[in-house]
Amino acid sequence: MSYRVALVGAGGIAVRHLEALAKTDRFRSVSAADLDRGKVEKLSAQYGIAPYTDYKEMIEREKPDVAVITLPHFLHKEAAVFCAERGCHMLLEKPMALTLAECDEIADAVKRSSVRLFVGHTQHYIAENRKAKQLIEQGELGELVMINDTRHIHYYREDRPGWFLEKAKAGGGILFNLGSHSIDKIQWLSSSRVTGVKAVLSHFGPRGDVEGSGLVFMDTDTGVPATIAQSGYPGASKNETEFVFTKGMLRVATGQSLWISDGGEYRKVPVDPQEVPFVLQFEDLASYIDTGTEPECGLDYARSVVAVTEAIYRSHERQSYCNV
Ligand SMILES: NC(=O)c1ccc[n+]([C@@H]2O[C@H](COP(=O)([O-])OP(=O)(O)OC[C@H]3O[C@@H](n4cnc5c(N)ncnc54)[C@H](O)[C@@H]3O)[C@@H](O)[C@H]2O)c1
Repeated sequence: MSYRVALVGAGGIAVRHLEALAKTDRFRSVSAADLDRGKVEKLSAQYGIAPYTDYKEMIEREKPDVAVITLPHFLHKEAAVFCAERGCHMLLEKPMALTLAECDEIADAVKRSSVRLFVGHTQHYIAENRKAKQLIEQGELGELVMINDTRHIHYYREDRPGWFLEKAKAGGGILFNLGSHSIDKIQWLSSSRVTGVKAVLSHFGPRGDVEGSGLVFMDTDTGVPATIAQSGYPGASKNETEFVFTKGMLRVATGQSLWISDGGEYRKVPVDPQEVPFVLQFEDLASYIDTGTEPECGLDYARSVVAVTEAIYRSHERQSYCNV
């Protein structure tokens, strides 16, 4: 059986979902909705799907089995509750919602409607990350003692949609958007949950009102401390997570390479080629819908990531350590 899919939002990431959907036989894209008629009509012509400008009308008319929600963050809650109430299973893009209160509203609607919600924490499907998780779980590098995650990217590039730089629409800047990937990597790869944070952010961006950098110290429930250092100001790009153990280290350059030290200098670890992450993500979604077995990126897990971002902003505002 193949599930009929409607895309709610037809922006940058929606294209990646459509490409992946075209490669699976468990799903069939039937329609997409976007306020921008030009965008949605282009995708409609390319993928042979019905175009809409009103996603609510699309859901009512098409009655899809699955809605893939790729809207700006401030619309995640409204769209997810609407789709749940119309009986759609969902792949909701990360971060789950702006706040924990919104996550809880989504969770209530999902449970009331007996639909399944899967949040698009794509880090779980990236080859280097998966290999790193295997190596961490094998335990041959000894005790994990710390995790340091660093991300530098020019966040203010001209082609970034404006809503990403508005706190009310995006929830925050680089720490909310890309920080959710870093928090996810730290929690998932080390099988832990962040329990407390101390964060210092900066606001020197040329546009918008979101933070442009942040340094975060985090405690986890396994006792292993972690840091996140992110900067969205111009500079050399970097996306690395380093795991320090008692007998060596692991360095994951997500999407690029994986390095191991078993006491000496780093050497590269071969990573087997795999299916593209968005296809693997849809395979997991199909299996969740089929079996109901809780996925790695279900409600509670996705909520835990938003809990950490909420604590990061609270910590910066109060200039103090905050429990998650
Ligand atoms: N998993 C990943 O690696 C990854 C990567 C990029 C983005 N994302 C996430 O995907 C989501 C979307 O990001 P994006 O980069 O595609 O943003 P985008 O701005 O390119 O796309 C959002 C689209 O929503 C449309 N839209 C806004 N309001 C609407 C409404 N009321 N009804 C219908 N359409 C509406 C906009 O016109 C736009 O085309 C965000 O949650 C983002 O964090 C995830």
